[in-house]
Amino acid sequence: MSLNTSVSKRNIIAQLEQIRVLPILVTDDVDQAIRCVTTLAENGLPAVEITLRTPNAMTVLREVVKACPTVTVGAGTILTQAQLEAVKATGAAFGISPGITPLLARVAADSGLPYFPGVGGASDLMLALEHGFNVVKLFPSDIVGSTKMAKALGGPFPDVKFCLTGGVTVEATPALLQQSNILCVGGSWMCPAALINAGDWAAIGVLAAAAAAAGKK
Ligand code: 3PG
Repeated sequence: MSLNTSVSKRNIIAQLEQIRVLPILVTDDVDQAIRCVTTLAENGLPAVEITLRTPNAMTVLREVVKACPTVTVGAGTILTQAQLEAVKATGAAFGISPGITPLLARVAADSGLPYFPGVGGASDLMLALEHGFNVVKLFPSDIVGSTKMAKALGGPFPDVKFCLTGGVTVEATPALLQQSNILCVGGSWMCPAALINAGDWAAIGVLAAAAAAAGKK
């Protein structure tokens, strides 16, 4: 097993280790996405995951990457090889999946794109490690066991770090981050669809600042 850690991937991990909160953005509108990512960064969250859950997501991703060069812009919800290749072509800094498949793990390891597969338990994690991925998303964190699951997996897999996502809240964040094998948490709570659609960047700024502060507690 060789670890999949390019310099850029190490830099992303170091940044996540510092910020400890990764906003997850779901929007199909380029201008809204740029405004939102800019607001998040101005309020202490300079790395973001843009999900591929909307029809126009690849365009949104490409335009945000271009418009926000000082932000670490990654793609989430990568489900297929074609999506992974398209994400890489946008210039995105990293890719994340909610789960892992043998095909996607192999293609991602070969692609050179800094990549974080999703795991829900030990078998997924063993597959991730076979391809050199020792920083993984634990998803859906609140359902598969959150810190309890991460702690239990820390026994057989002491060198793995987790990003917990799915149901994480600002209130829960400081306690979740206490555990040594939790690198960061991710979530959409600081950029909810209702505020994005309303263009309420001030409110998103307040939520982002609170999330960033929770990451430092
Ligand atoms: C994810 O992609 O990790 C989740 O959709 C984020 O979960 P949340 O919306 O519950 O924060």
